[in-house]
Amino acid sequence: MLWQSGGMSDVRDNGREAYAAATFVTLPAWWDSVRAAGEALRPGIQLGAYEAGLVAWLLRLRGVTRVLEVGGFVGASALAMVHAVPGATVVTLERDAKAAALAAQHFAAHGQGRVTLLEGDALAVLASPGLQAEAPFDALFIDAEKRQYPDYLEAALPLLKPGALILADNTLLFGAMAGEEPRARVSAEAKAAMTQFHAMLADRARFDAVLLPTEEGLTVAILRESALR
Ligand code: DHB
Ligand code: MG
Repeated sequence: MLWQSGGMSDVRDNGREAYAAATFVTLPAWWDSVRAAGEALRPGIQLGAYEAGLVAWLLRLRGVTRVLEVGGFVGASALAMVHAVPGATVVTLERDAKAAALAAQHFAAHGQGRVTLLEGDALAVLASPGLQAEAPFDALFIDAEKRQYPDYLEAALPLLKPGALILADNTLLFGAMAGEEPRARVSAEAKAAMTQFHAMLADRARFDAVLLPTEEGLTVAILRESALR
């Protein structure tokens, strides 16, 4: 189920997350409108205000300025980063044409020229010369097709700087990864992919990772400096 608790931007936040967001997260009023446009297109898949605030804070903590986002949807997450991370620029990948069209409008209105939208299937775009030219990135945020998280990570690794921050949404698969009854159907394929994704990130020779047990699950990893040498 989705949690409803107060303001529009809290639509995905549970009670704890709503409290944390109300206490520390400041996003402008237009962000709620951007997010609402996404909810109208496909409800329940966007970051809530708490998660958006958490992602932005982790980027600030790590001094990130160059973000690669896989799965931008209508742009709310990228715009939260641009708004809340000083100097950050975001390259965001989105496959769905309707979502990308809305995202382009939202970036024109609020992106401060700091978001680049690349439309198309992420695995194709990740391998394209156009994206290679935008590299290197010092953060990767994955929030797209759950069955492809290991493939996204493999394809994006060559585009990352040593020490890059890797963030991934929905990594608890709605509780299914922790043996809970998920609120939506979770395929065996998605579970297998997420198991593989976490096995990759658990390799301490390459990554330093943690799973934050937010409502959705947010995996956070640092690509070790030595892993690329
Ligand atoms: C779904 C995707 C998401 O990225 C999310 O945060 C929640 C749900 C989905 O595809 O159902
Ligand atoms: Mg998500």
